[in-house]
Amino acid sequence: MSIMIVMQFFVFALLCLPCWANAVHPPILSTAETATTSATDHQALMSLRSLIKGDPSQALDSWGNQSIPMCQWRGVACGTRGRRRGRVVALDLRRLNLVGTIASSIGNLTYLRHFGLQKNRFYGTMPSEVGHLVQLEYLNLSNNSIGGEIPPTLATCVQLRVIDLRYNVHKGSVPRELASLHNLEVLALGYNNLTGSIPVEIGNLKALTHLVLNSNMLVGEIPTQIRNLKNLTYLDLYFNGLSGSIPASLGGLQKLQILYLSNNQLSGPIPTTLGNLSSLLVLDVQTTGLTGSIPESLGKSEPPQHPFSRI
Ligand SMILES: *[C@@H]1O[C@H](CO)[C@@H](O)[C@H](O)[C@H]1NC(C)=O
Ligand SMILES: *[C@@H]1O[C@H](CO)[C@@H](O)[C@H](O)[C@H]1NC(C)=O
Ligand SMILES: *[C@@H]1O[C@H](CO)[C@@H](O)[C@H](O)[C@H]1NC(C)=O
Ligand SMILES: *[C@@H]1O[C@H](CO)[C@@H](O)[C@H](O)[C@H]1NC(C)=O
Ligand SMILES: *[C@@H]1O[C@H](CO)[C@@H](O)[C@H](O)[C@H]1NC(C)=O
Ligand SMILES: *[C@@H]1O[C@H](CO)[C@@H](O)[C@H](O)[C@H]1NC(C)=O
Ligand SMILES: *[C@@H]1O[C@H](CO)[C@@H](O)[C@H](O)[C@H]1NC(C)=O
Repeated sequence: MSIMIVMQFFVFALLCLPCWANAVHPPILSTAETATTSATDHQALMSLRSLIKGDPSQALDSWGNQSIPMCQWRGVACGTRGRRRGRVVALDLRRLNLVGTIASSIGNLTYLRHFGLQKNRFYGTMPSEVGHLVQLEYLNLSNNSIGGEIPPTLATCVQLRVIDLRYNVHKGSVPRELASLHNLEVLALGYNNLTGSIPVEIGNLKALTHLVLNSNMLVGEIPTQIRNLKNLTYLDLYFNGLSGSIPASLGGLQKLQILYLSNNQLSGPIPTTLGNLSSLLVLDVQTTGLTGSIPESLGKSEPPQHPFSRI
């Protein structure tokens, strides 16, 4: 009984802290702290804007306008309570035809959880400072012209659930460091210029549901460690330079619905274990090097759909 009361009071106190701070005596220390820190966000956004050279629809006119609060600038969303109050938590600048590079000041947006620049004309590289965004959950930079290597520092953004960098010009290898992102559900790096092999560490990404590496220049074998990704529903390795045989262990991925492996240099028989994939809707493994036939138990196959449209 008394524990309940104490807990209720505690919850009440937590809920009411922001309103109290706002309306009654603002605790001087924390107000000052909020001021400087949201000023950091302001400065970081202005710095980001300064590297955006093209904005044909004048979408970013609100940015820096003294009469518009930062949290109301186009594409900016701020937190509403606790430490996040007044801090930038989301940046959604998709489909604005913006032309420019990504400023390293992005790393100063300490509370950023959602970062979307998809369908613009950003070029240059992804700054390694994105690694400072330890609260980042969603990163979508797809459909730009961002190149260079994928920064391994992304591995420090341990909250990441989605990385979508498709349709860019990234080169270098898939950073093996990303294997530490144990919350990652979507890793979509298709339609880039990635080289090297698929890191065996990929098997550590146990939360992965979508692994999309198609249309790159990846070589080597499909790592058998992929069998550890029990939640995988979508595996797309289409159009690379992968060789060796299809691992029989793929047959253990009970949730797999979509499997694209064609247009590689895979050889050997199609493993009969693929017949165990009871959730499979699309199987695309046709390549000249392969022998054997598709297991009969895969009666549900539909014509392949490409590019992927499910996420
Ligand atoms: C970002 O933070 C760094 C380190 O705190 C600081 O030196 C730099 O001036 C900041 N940049 C911007 C644009 O806010
Ligand atoms: C700033 O925003 C206000 C309110 O929307 C608008 O009236 C004003 O023209 C803007 N100033 C500039 C310089 O764009
Ligand atoms: C991304 O770009 C590719 C190639 O230009 C295009 O085929 C695709 O439809 C685009 N995706 C979106 C979501 O616009
Ligand atoms: C990708 O790499 C190939 C081969 O090195 C090159 O010809 C092509 O221009 C590159 N594409 C881009 C978009 O960088
Ligand atoms: C796999 O998916 C299930 C159901 O969505 C979820 O409960 C579980 O946490 C996931 N596993 C991992 C390792 O994320
Ligand atoms: C998977 O398929 C193989 C060969 O078709 C079969 O021997 C094995 O028992 C199956 N495993 C499961 C878990 O269904
Ligand atoms: C990323 O953005 C593209 C373009 O808007 C969209 O089609 C895709 O579904 C997004 N990716 C994820 C994983 O949400």
